Amino acid sequence: MANFIKIEDGQTFAKEMFCIPQHYEEYVESVMIPKGLILNRTERLARDICRDLSHGPLVALCCLKGGYQFFSHLSEFIINHNATSGQSLPFSIDFIRLKSYENDVSTSDVKVIGGDDLSSVTGKNVLIVEDIIDTGKTMQKMLNIIAEYKPAQVKVVSLLVKRTPLKIDSYRPDYIGFEVPNNFLVGYALDYNEYFRDLSHICVINKKGKEKYATK
Ligand code: IMP
Repeated sequence: MANFIKIEDGQTFAKEMFCIPQHYEEYVESVMIPKGLILNRTERLARDICRDLSHGPLVALCCLKGGYQFFSHLSEFIINHNATSGQSLPFSIDFIRLKSYENDVSTSDVKVIGGDDLSSVTGKNVLIVEDIIDTGKTMQKMLNIIAEYKPAQVKVVSLLVKRTPLKIDSYRPDYIGFEVPNNFLVGYALDYNEYFRDLSHICVINKKGKEKYATK
């Protein structure tokens, strides 16, 4: 059995069934993953991570900005698991910011544009927490950067993995929330040129939205 939820091509919900902020209503095509489902899946990912990595302290590394909502909810579930399961996974947090997208196109130019001093990962188990893997170039760059700091072990959890023909080396993270169609997605902190992060659900943006918020 695949260890992720597969969202089939065209599998979406009518936006009228959900609460969409008024300022985005005309730019959202449909809802792909409602927030409730994101949270339920994240709870299970937290349980799997605690089961596999409870042998030592963990540094959870949040990929900004798109990963912040997922990181926040995942951390909360790990903390709750620690408090109620009788198991223990002490963890600390760090942040890194990479940028590869221009409008809705993944560029080959992946840049580190901010974050913490990563010497905190040396000798530690590291969990990289990412929002979405498309071609895999950003994660490849991230893994190279982290390797320079000589961690004991690195695992990657990504909320979403896109089915794209552009994927390099068929890269797969260790933990996946959902496999999604090759659409440009926004919401739950995923952005289109910094817009739509303030949308609760993961949604498909329409043509009008892409035009309205395109970088000129
Ligand atoms: P990759 O390097 O092509 O795998 O792209 C990964 C990065 O691009 C992610 O960290 C996101 O920031 C961004 N990205 C990829 N697909 C989407 C999308 O559908 N919506 C918003 N951001 C995306």
